[in-house]
Amino acid sequence: MSALPETPLSSIEIPWVESISQDPARPDGWLREFDSPLNLLQTEPFRENIKQLSKALSKLVDNHTIHYAIKANKATCFVEAASECGIGVDVASLTELQTAVASGLTGSRITVTGVVKSPDLIRTAIEEDAILVADHREEFDLIIRESRKLAKQARLAVRVSGFSDHGKTIPTRFGMSPDELRNQLRYLLENSKHVRLEGIHFHLPGYSATARREALKETFLLVDTINSEGGSIRFIDIGGGFPMSYLKSEDEWNAFWERNRESPLPGVSESTSYPYFNETTLPGFLHEILVGLRKEFRERDLELRCEPGRSLLANSGATIARVASVKPATHGRTAVTCEINGTQIRPRSGELLVDPILIPRDDVSRSPALEDSSFHLFGRYCSENDFLFRRPIPFKTPPRPGDIVLFPNTAGYHMHFLETHGHGFPLAENLVIDNPDSPSLDRSNTTKASL
Ligand SMILES: Cc1ncc(COP(=O)(O)O)c(C=O)c1O
Repeated sequence: MSALPETPLSSIEIPWVESISQDPARPDGWLREFDSPLNLLQTEPFRENIKQLSKALSKLVDNHTIHYAIKANKATCFVEAASECGIGVDVASLTELQTAVASGLTGSRITVTGVVKSPDLIRTAIEEDAILVADHREEFDLIIRESRKLAKQARLAVRVSGFSDHGKTIPTRFGMSPDELRNQLRYLLENSKHVRLEGIHFHLPGYSATARREALKETFLLVDTINSEGGSIRFIDIGGGFPMSYLKSEDEWNAFWERNRESPLPGVSESTSYPYFNETTLPGFLHEILVGLRKEFRERDLELRCEPGRSLLANSGATIARVASVKPATHGRTAVTCEINGTQIRPRSGELLVDPILIPRDDVSRSPALEDSSFHLFGRYCSENDFLFRRPIPFKTPPRPGDIVLFPNTAGYHMHFLETHGHGFPLAENLVIDNPDSPSLDRSNTTKASL
């Protein structure tokens, strides 16, 4: 099979990434000190994203609360920044909950949405007055049991699902239907000594604003039923899944998919890929969901909550790795092997559809890459399949051993969600470079000695 023609997928411009790319001594020094690969974290863009989201929400509803979904990145620096910015967090495990508490968050600034809730997690959540989002009847029972043992009421929201998008039910394994919750309501109200039902929660897969708007409208009706039967709902949480753009050119994005339709890359499909180019802006997306609904919130005295992960992390991270070898492989390809595992940049499904940036180790000028050269980037596992990208990368100059490759915008789900340390390679360190002159290791770091 002939190689796929190279089409660029250029990253949007991120000023701090540009300045690192133009100053090779800096990333080179960090890699020498902390090893390859290395995750670079910047909390300034994260803080700015919080401001922008809050501003957009303020234009649409009277009361809102943002909860940053920690699952998108394990670094503590973002949890601390969330706490300093006055927002809350969404946690999925006891470790995340403990990180939130250690960062100064308590009470309803913590939402617990974890898929599996251990008794330890439930107990700690009740002790901290956090909101537990229950998914099904058995979880009601577990929460009630722990509340009894602690003699302390648990704060509860229920995850609902079964909503439609353009007439089709959105498939999901999470949550219960509004009807099922109506059926369970008596049980919850009878146990109100142990659980206080404060909110309704949903998180939809995919990135449809209209589906979220429809789900929200259905949820208002559910709130009315619950409140008319003695409940007292004070918030609706619309989850996350807000858009961000990684790429600067829609034309490049379209050209990429055109080529991919002609000659499909294994495992890379439009339906499973994140839309790395997004024409929808965050304010536009929220407007589509919420326009005209202010009075619905007001009449019911409801707060709007949301829990984005990826979009709050936009432009807040990058991963760097050293090039180990550059050699000819079969099919006329040039195999560029890097000191990183594919799992350390791969998203939850598909692959990172943003071109890496080559940072040559020396400033000796290099002749441009031959027109038909085709660079294939691989990781360091001893598997033919430890690819970093299934597609050839259109580097303008040929990489050499010792160079650095920078993967832009990896903070949301790319750095940590699938990371592995097979072959005994340690996990990447996470370096906070808010001040690049005095970087510091993030507090979440798995110490290399522990492996
Ligand atoms: C329950 C829940 N809330 C929030 C999020 C965050 O979604 P995103 O990072 O797409 O904004 C997720 C992601 O899987 C989730 O499962």
